[in-house]
Amino acid sequence: MRKIRLAVIGAGAMGTRHAELICRHEACSLVGLVDADPERRMVAERLGVPFRASVDALLDQERPDGAIVATPNTQHVPVAESCLRRSVPVLVEKPVADTPAQAWHLVEAARSRRTPVLVGHHRRHNPLICQARRLVREGALGQLVGVSALWALCKPDEYFVEAWRRQRPGGGPLLINLIHELDSLRFLCGEVSQVHAYASAAVRGLEVEDSLCISLRFDSGALGTVLASDTTPAAWSYEANTGENPVYFHAAENCYHFLGTEGSLAFPRLELWRYPPGTPRGWQHGLEKRAVEVTPADPLRLQLDHFCRVVRGEDEPLVDALDGARTLALAAAVRESADTGQPADPAAHLADPSTASNRL
Ligand SMILES: NC(=O)c1ccc[n+]([C@@H]2O[C@H](COP(=O)([O-])OP(=O)(O)OC[C@H]3O[C@@H](n4cnc5c(N)ncnc54)[C@H](O)[C@@H]3O)[C@@H](O)[C@H]2O)c1
Repeated sequence: MRKIRLAVIGAGAMGTRHAELICRHEACSLVGLVDADPERRMVAERLGVPFRASVDALLDQERPDGAIVATPNTQHVPVAESCLRRSVPVLVEKPVADTPAQAWHLVEAARSRRTPVLVGHHRRHNPLICQARRLVREGALGQLVGVSALWALCKPDEYFVEAWRRQRPGGGPLLINLIHELDSLRFLCGEVSQVHAYASAAVRGLEVEDSLCISLRFDSGALGTVLASDTTPAAWSYEANTGENPVYFHAAENCYHFLGTEGSLAFPRLELWRYPPGTPRGWQHGLEKRAVEVTPADPLRLQLDHFCRVVRGEDEPLVDALDGARTLALAAAVRESADTGQPADPAAHLADPSTASNRL
């Protein structure tokens, strides 16, 4: 089968990871890179591919079958639209855009160009998340009652040297980090109808929060909480507990707990707690714990496998532009609630882009 020819737009930290993965993949090849910073040419030289001066030049000269957009968030939509205008399928890094209104713009562009957009919520490709979803969605826990997610770790001081990371809009754990947790919770537990959130900057005193507490009401009636902080030496976060990214300290702990009427599940160790078959229910009776086995695999690599199939027309995007916009709308509702102290409705940030243009 002919290799899928892919281009990477934005050759920073994430774009370089994508480019290296493409070069190691047997189903696709890297045909070129572009970056607004000419110094990033060194990535193209190291990988032995052309470095072009503009997105248009890359698309017109290399004519890729698909493109990966790994620019800063504000550039996702204009760059992706350049690809869509040429009917080039695109994988856009998360979050899909920097505002819900921009995300909606991309939803409409993908529809009108009839060209697929895949959003890089790569955790959905992680076999641990896929197995947890099967357990939650296919009844192993009975009816879902609630979920509790903890994201607690310590960002290094040097992280905050970059000014944008200390400022709104753009900085802060909500849009940079918790967008992943919010997307995973939607994927695992379904749509969220209301949120109520508090944010605190009490530790660092920066313009951006260092901690958040989020209450969620799911459409199904299940309830959820997310407690998040990037300023604590704690061992409970997706990054630390899944070991997905070797850059992070690894701790074999759980960071999400799912509660159902027939059992409960701790993630990512996938520990399923239930009453043994045929035994009575009640708090005085013992539960048994069973660990569900999963073979680990790199979700970024699995996402690339999927993107190749999307480009070939064999798969619909697992996370399309509308799905990515829903996750962004949920983050926007969390921001609204944390700023106003009032509950907020995620759908209000999706339905009418003209009222959803607040930058996060
Ligand atoms: N999936 C994940 O877990 C994950 C992790 C990190 C970052 N990301 C996402 O990846 C994206 C990039 O993040 P990063 O950490 O690599 O940032 P980065 O700053 O390291 O890289 C971005 C690059 O894009 C270039 N650029 C800016 N505007 C451009 C344009 N119009 N055309 C071409 N190049 C342009 C910059 O010069 C820079 O080199 C962000 O959207 C971020 O949210 C995702």
